[in-house]
Amino acid sequence: MKVTIFNAISIDGFIATKEGNSDWANDVDEFNLRISQADCIIVGRKTFEQFHGNLYPIKGVHNFIYTWHPDYLTKVEGVEAITGHPPKIIKDLRARGFKNILILGGSKTSTSFFKGGVVDELVLDIHPIILSEGIKLFTLPEAKMNLERISQKELNDGIIQITYNVIKPT
Ligand SMILES: NC(=O)c1ccc[n+]([C@@H]2O[C@H](COP(=O)([O-])OP(=O)(O)OC[C@H]3O[C@@H](n4cnc5c(N)ncnc54)[C@H](OP(=O)(O)O)[C@@H]3O)[C@@H](O)[C@H]2O)c1
Repeated sequence: MKVTIFNAISIDGFIATKEGNSDWANDVDEFNLRISQADCIIVGRKTFEQFHGNLYPIKGVHNFIYTWHPDYLTKVEGVEAITGHPPKIIKDLRARGFKNILILGGSKTSTSFFKGGVVDELVLDIHPIILSEGIKLFTLPEAKMNLERISQKELNDGIIQITYNVIKPT
């Protein structure tokens, strides 16, 4: 039973350029592996819209889209809107039987769940690229949390994957 944030980042901590481009992320095999291990995914509405039709919705896994405007998504096939306070969302998803919950960004979505104290694990595929500016992994400076590195592996093309446990405040 785990809530995991999985993201591709530049070595300076950005998930996209300032124009919102993350085409440099090429950890496709790892992305597919993570999806295959998840019971459901959570994606921010902006990320969903950007990749709607070519990546999302992903077949074979329940696609939840995080939005303040759930009505907007009622006619979109293959997705379900979720809204509100992350601890309540995760509690509801657990009650529905979803065990391994994978959060795929973007920044605002990851930040909300991270700050909500419900994220157990952070998996970062660190790409050998410097963006200097852009959209950060987490949006708000208050998103502070201690991490414990639990594993590290080298992927193709110089990508390093690091997995962290999130240490919850006691
Ligand atoms: N490198 C990577 O691995 C990776 C992964 C994913 C995304 N990205 C990039 O990240 C960028 C998008 O990130 P982003 O931070 O701008 O947007 P995002 O997190 O994808 O989506 C933001 C939207 O989430 C909804 N939301 C945020 N907080 C909420 C709350 N507390 N309750 C309910 N809904 C909430 C809102 O939707 P509404 O406006 O509909 O209310 C908000 O506009 C894109 O450029 C994408 O390419 C990169």
